[in-house]
Amino acid sequence: MNNIAHRLILGPIIGGLSHQSVNLWARADGEGTLHAFLGQQPDLSDAQPAGTSPLQAENGFAGVVPIRNLQPETTYYYALTLSPDLPQGERFPSFTTFPPPGEPRSFNFVFGSCFRPTTEHSGQAFRAIIRRLETDDLRFLLMIGDQIYADQWKYNGIGKVATTLEDYRAVYAHVWSNPPLRDLLSRLPAFMILDDHEVDDDWHWLDSERQWADIPILDKFIRWIEGRPPQERQLPPQRVRYALQAYWEHQGMHAPPMLHPPRLNRGGLYTLETKDTGSLAYTFTFGAAAFFVMDTRTMRVRGRGAQTMLGEEQWAALEEWLLNVKDTYPIKFLVTSSALLFTMFVDVARDRWSGYPRERDRLLHFLAANGIEGVYLLAGDLHSAHAVSAELYGPNQKAIPLWEFCASPFEQNPNWLSRFTYIPILSGAVHHQRKHFCVSAINYGLVRVDFSEPHAPRVRFEIHYLDERKGEWKMRAVG
Ligand SMILES: [Fe+2]
Repeated sequence: MNNIAHRLILGPIIGGLSHQSVNLWARADGEGTLHAFLGQQPDLSDAQPAGTSPLQAENGFAGVVPIRNLQPETTYYYALTLSPDLPQGERFPSFTTFPPPGEPRSFNFVFGSCFRPTTEHSGQAFRAIIRRLETDDLRFLLMIGDQIYADQWKYNGIGKVATTLEDYRAVYAHVWSNPPLRDLLSRLPAFMILDDHEVDDDWHWLDSERQWADIPILDKFIRWIEGRPPQERQLPPQRVRYALQAYWEHQGMHAPPMLHPPRLNRGGLYTLETKDTGSLAYTFTFGAAAFFVMDTRTMRVRGRGAQTMLGEEQWAALEEWLLNVKDTYPIKFLVTSSALLFTMFVDVARDRWSGYPRERDRLLHFLAANGIEGVYLLAGDLHSAHAVSAELYGPNQKAIPLWEFCASPFEQNPNWLSRFTYIPILSGAVHHQRKHFCVSAINYGLVRVDFSEPHAPRVRFEIHYLDERKGEWKMRAVG
C-alpha cells in the first residue's frame, strides 16, 4: 500500500486560464484523488467543490481538474487537496479570469525561460516576480522553454542524463520543488511550452520519418570524456517519447488544448509516427491580444535532405490563425522558444531560426505579404535578453514594424558572447533592423499592453535583470 498519496509534491499550478475556464494542476507522491475547491472569499468560507481528478501511476501521479463556466474578469480563491474535506485557512491563493476574447483591456504579464537551479538560494528571478505580483497587477507568466535541464547531470538532481520516464519525472520533481518557483506558480497563472532541454541539448530528428534523433557531436564527446555510459550519449526515439510523456504530465496537461495534438499509442505515449503531423502548439487570448505558442522542437528535422522546424500542419495552423486574428486582434504575440530576429555570427550550433532560413523567410514574407500588423515575437533560449525591431515590406510600400523580445535565463550561466556577435538577419522581407539592447544576466521580461486608446494600443517591453556584483535588480526598456 505504499502507492497511496500522502502529499502533493508539485503544484498547484493555475493552467490554461481563459475568460471562463481554468485547469488546476498538481502532482502527488502516490495514487489518490485530487480535489479542487473554489470560492470568492479569501478564506474560502463560501467555497464549493469544483471537481476531482484521479492521480494514477500511468501519469506519474500528476492530474488536472478542469473547471468551466467561470465569470470573466472575476477573482476566485482556490484550494487543491488530496482530501474531500474543505481545507481550513485564512487566505488561499487566487486567480482572476481573463476578459472576453476581443475586449480591449490593458494588462501586464511576465515571461522568461531557462531554469537550472544550483543552490538552496536559487529562484531569485521568481522571488523578484513575486514582489511585483500586486504592484504591477501581473496577470500571467509565460515559461517558454528549458523548464528543466534533463541532460545536465551535475544539476538535475538525479546525477545522470535522464534516459527513462522515471528519470524525467525525477528531474521535474527536483527542479520544480524550488520554493520560490512553487510559490509563484500557485499564485500566478502560467502558460508553458518546451524548448530543447526538456528532452536533451539541441536535439533534433535526423529524418522526416522520425526513426532517428540525435544530439550535437560536442555533447557526445563531452559525455564520453566525462565517462558517461553509452545510453546517455544516444537519443533513441523511445527516450524522446519518455521525455514528451513527462512534458505532457507537467506542462501539457494543464495548458490550453493543443491545436493538433500528436497521437498516442496504447501505452499512452506519443507515437511519433511518420504520418502523425500533430504538434504541441496552442493558442489563447487575453482580451484584444492573441497568443500563438509554437512548438519549435518536436517536429524539427535536420538531416540529409531534410531541414524543417514547425512541420506542415503547424504551418497551416499558424498561417490560418494569423489571417483570423489579423483584423480582430490588434496585438499578436508569437511565442517561439528559439530567437528569430537575432543572429550571432559564431552560432555554430545553428539551433535557432537562423539554421532554418527558408522557414524564417516563410514567416516574414507571410506577415509582409498579408500586411499583418501588431506582431511581437517572444523568444527565449539564448541565455541573454534582447529587444530587436525590424520593418517588414508590407503591401503598397507600407513599412510594418515587427518586434522581438527575448527573456532568458531565469537562472543559468549568462551568455556573454551574444552581445558582441549579434548580426542582423539576411532576409528580403525585412529592413531597418535595430538591436535596442542585449543584456547578459539572470532576467525576466515584463510586457505592458496598453489599450487605454483602443485604436492605438501600445506595447512596452521591460527586461528586469540581476546585477550580481551589486546584488540589485535593474531594468532596460523599449516602447
Ligand atoms: Fe536554456
